[in-house]
Amino acid sequence: MPEPDGADIPDLDDRVTVRVHLDPADWSTHLAEETARGLRDRPPWIPPVWFYDEAGSKLFDHITRLPEYYPTEAERSILRDRAGDIARLTSSPTLIELGSGTSDKTMLLLDALESVGTLRTVAPFDVSEEVLRSASRTIAATYPDVTVDAVVGDFHRHLGHVPTGDGAVLAFLGSTIGNLDPDQRGGFLAAAAATLADDDWFLLGTDLVKPVDRLLAAYDDAAGVTAEFNLNALSVVNRELGADFDRTRFRHRAHWDDDGERIEMHLVADGDQTVTLSALDDLVVDLRDGDHIRTEISTKFTPEGVAAELADAGLEVVERWTDADGDFLLTLARRA
Ligand code: SAH
Ligand code: TRP
Repeated sequence: MPEPDGADIPDLDDRVTVRVHLDPADWSTHLAEETARGLRDRPPWIPPVWFYDEAGSKLFDHITRLPEYYPTEAERSILRDRAGDIARLTSSPTLIELGSGTSDKTMLLLDALESVGTLRTVAPFDVSEEVLRSASRTIAATYPDVTVDAVVGDFHRHLGHVPTGDGAVLAFLGSTIGNLDPDQRGGFLAAAAATLADDDWFLLGTDLVKPVDRLLAAYDDAAGVTAEFNLNALSVVNRELGADFDRTRFRHRAHWDDDGERIEMHLVADGDQTVTLSALDDLVVDLRDGDHIRTEISTKFTPEGVAAELADAGLEVVERWTDADGDFLLTLARRA
């Protein structure tokens, strides 16, 4: 998405507010603790948030345009068909988006809410400040009548800061919820439900279960972009935590876990190796040839499973839609 040239857009800067709820020191401590906890686990894992530095965000954007990676286009096609229905049903003045990234698909919702004439405020929420600022300016430049109230935060901890309460739509797209484990999903959905007033809405995008070969291809593309995205997390950990991972001695692997109904992304050690993380009190990680570090999970859902998890959080399904191929699901819910 091109960075809009703010110079000739009146009051662009007046219409964009960025509230930072991530205290840098607190956030680094939190990430350091999480990473140390993950690397002491067997098998070891690291938090997926390490993916999204500037280079990683660009690689992710590339993933969404790969031929094998169907979820983005599938969700976009649902939004293309249904954004009008969503806008008429909700007549919402506020669209909040968690893990918004570039907010690219979200523009379809914003267009539809603009057409019904109700949209006043857009509130993108992301942990990555750079991406959030750039998306905020794009939104403000594209929609001259809206105010952008962006939030830099962690959706595991800062959901209390989103501007719900006026009939808002709280959107969580891209099947990012599938990147949370079942406990995290329960906690997240309960916190999301707690921020919603009775006339607010929750809009959730989830990827659906499908044949394993298609799933594996989507997370291990022929051009190697997902492999590069995965390996980039090691570069980020090297930089941020003073680690000495040798990227050339790890391979990307996408693995289907039947029990969890999820794709797992692994980094597999190519040969025995010892890694030291100086910012984690010189934590030492010993890996044997073939050992792996888990970097991401991507859970696949059924419509009934999504409804059941929402119900556990006190939310009920109002409408749900899939794309023509039945690959992806969009669920509109509210407090039960
Ligand atoms: N919604 C977009 C982007 C999905 S990628 C889409 O559908 O394509 C996931 C996004 O969530 C990234 O922009 C990442 O920075 C953000 N993210 C990851 N972990 C987060 C967290 N704990 N809190 C807030 N945002 C997070
Ligand atoms: N939530 C999306 C998914 O699980 C996007 C995503 C998150 C992703 N982490 C990823 C895609 C790692 C590829 C690799 O598909």
